[in-house]
Amino acid sequence: MTDQYAVFGNPINHSKSPVIHRQFAEQTGQDLHYAKQLVEVDAFVKTAQAFFAEGGKGLNVTIPFKVEAFHFAQQLTPRAQCAGAVNTLALQADGKILGDNTDGIGMVHDMHNLGWELRGKRILVLGAGGAVRGILQPVLAEHPSQVIIANRTVSKAEELAAHFHDLGDVKAKAFEALNGEQFDIVINGTSASLSGDLPPLPNGLLSSNASCYDLMYGAEPTVFLKWAAEQGAVELADGLGMLVGQAAEAFYLWRQIRPEVVPVITALRRQLNEKKSS
Ligand code: ATR
Repeated sequence: MTDQYAVFGNPINHSKSPVIHRQFAEQTGQDLHYAKQLVEVDAFVKTAQAFFAEGGKGLNVTIPFKVEAFHFAQQLTPRAQCAGAVNTLALQADGKILGDNTDGIGMVHDMHNLGWELRGKRILVLGAGGAVRGILQPVLAEHPSQVIIANRTVSKAEELAAHFHDLGDVKAKAFEALNGEQFDIVINGTSASLSGDLPPLPNGLLSSNASCYDLMYGAEPTVFLKWAAEQGAVELADGLGMLVGQAAEAFYLWRQIRPEVVPVITALRRQLNEKKSS
């Protein structure tokens, strides 16, 4: 039987994961089937149990089930443990279900593909929700000189800084306290872009060679990336490469083969642009 994979979420209609994994499978000659499944908000565990009981090999998990998937997994990778959330479940040879979080490493790999170096850099991370928690361990593993987490609710940034304290120099600040600071890389992990909002950021935050990354993506540049361009950022990127990057890491966990991400990112970008102009 063809190996079965799926992505569980609610909503799930717009998920690009099936398209991405089908391209990976085609590219690497892997025989697998990947579906998207709408799961009722109170039915994650039941549906995931049934999926694996019926012979399913692996799942991606998206909003709102990443924390439930963390508790559902019988084993966790260190990065999933750090993130407190799981976006990938994989059936192991011993029958146990492993939980991983590939979001952060997906972003870091995308930055590497873009030629961005994180080592020794001063990095500002905006936001302190689930998305930011998911990227901090892989970012700190690159040995930046310092990571500052700025969030509207400062206490949440402080909690994250304390949680990741052992992994590097990481501190919390309020947006207002960023005045006079400069950063080489700014990562927007707030959900403010969704509503077209921008956190209150002071001018002069970017160093002369700064790169800015938004975890969100869309057909148009996000408000944050427009701000970054106005502030003189040299490199800009949205989260489309991260989406493909997290999928590539999940694919690797399941199939032990690394797919090529660049052709898939290019195809998705073309589709986004075509939609915009149609
Ligand atoms: P996600 O899973 O996308 O991280 P989340 O856990 O709800 O979602 O976190 C959303 C993040 O975006 C939080 O850091 C939130 O700030 P608060 O902790 O102060 O709520 C941030 N955020 C959302 N809307 C924002 C806005 N308009 N301005 C600034 N920050 C915003």
